[in-house]
Amino acid sequence: MTRELGAAVRAATARLADAGVPSPEADAVALAAHVLGTSAAEVRKAMVLGRAAPDGYETLVDERARRVPLQHLTGRAGFRGIELRVGPGVFTPRPETELVAGLAVEAARVVAAGGASPVVVDLCTGSGAIALAVKDEVPGAQVHAVELSPDAYAWALANRDALALDVDVRLGDATEAFDDLLGAVDVVVSNPPYIPAGMEPVDPEVRDHDPGVALYGGDPTGLAIPLVVAARAARLLRAGGRLLMEHADTQGGTLPARLRATGQWRDVVDHVDLNGRPRATSAVRSTARSAEEPA
Ligand SMILES: C[S@@+](CC[C@H](N)C(=O)[O-])C[C@H]1O[C@@H](n2cnc3c(N)ncnc32)[C@H](O)[C@@H]1O
Repeated sequence: MTRELGAAVRAATARLADAGVPSPEADAVALAAHVLGTSAAEVRKAMVLGRAAPDGYETLVDERARRVPLQHLTGRAGFRGIELRVGPGVFTPRPETELVAGLAVEAARVVAAGGASPVVVDLCTGSGAIALAVKDEVPGAQVHAVELSPDAYAWALANRDALALDVDVRLGDATEAFDDLLGAVDVVVSNPPYIPAGMEPVDPEVRDHDPGVALYGGDPTGLAIPLVVAARAARLLRAGGRLLMEHADTQGGTLPARLRATGQWRDVVDHVDLNGRPRATSAVRSTARSAEEPA
C-alpha cells in the first residue's frame, strides 16, 4: 500500500529521534527532499497535500538512523553561499567554520578595497570549503589551497570544478607548502585538525565518518598541528598579513597565548561563534622576527 508522505516523514522523525539524531525532523524532511529532488519547503507543502512517499525514502532513513551523516546520504553540504559535494574520505564542512571563512572574506575585502588583488591561502582545505567560499565572495582574490589527504584532495578538485571557481588546489603538507608564496600572502586561513589526542568525539557521525587525519591535533592539547600550521602561515604572510584559524571551544585561551609567545604575531584576538563559544583566532603578522625564526 502506498504510504502518505506526511505519515512517512513523521515516522522517520520518531525513528531518528530514537536513534539520537540531534535534529530528527529537519533530517527526515531533508532526506525526503533529496529523494524527491526538491526543497524542504516543497516537501512540507506535499505533506499537507497528502502526496505519496517516494520509493527509497525508508532505506535512507535506516542509514541515517545508523548515524551515517546526513551530508553523506544527500552528497551535499551547504557552506556560506555555496554547495559542496561531500562523502567518504573528506571532512564534512561545519556551520561553525563559516565564522572563520567569514573573517577571511572580510580580511580579503580590506585588501581589495585598497586596490590590490588579495592573495589568500587556505591551509588544510579538505573539501575546499573555505577556499571556495572566499573565491565565491571575493572574486578578485587569488586563492590557493592545500590538502594532505589524496581522498580529500580529490573532493576539493571536484568541488572547484563543479563550482567553476578559479582556485589553485594542491596536494601536499600544509606545514611546508607554497614555497613560491613565501612573504607574499595577505591572508592565511585554516581549519586544521585540533581535537586533543585521546579525546574521542561523542557523535558517531564524526567518530565513524570524518577521517582521523582531519580530526586530531597531534598531542594532548590538540595544538601541535595548529601551531606548525601557524608557523608556516608566519612564513607565508607579508608583514601586516592576517592569520585566521579555527580552534576547539576549549582552546580560546591557549591558542592565542601560544601564538603571542612566538613573537611573530600582533593584535591576537579570539572570536566567538553565534552560540557565544570561542571558535577562531585572528592575528596579524608582525614585522619583528623572533630569535629562532628562519630569515
Ligand atoms: C578539520 S578538517 C577541515 C577541512 C576544511 N578546511 C573545512 O573546514 O571543512 C582538517 C583538514 O586538514 C587536512 N590535513 C591534516 N593535516 C594536514 C597537513 N599537514 N597538511 C595539509 N592538510 C592536512 C585533513 O586531511 C582535513 O582535510
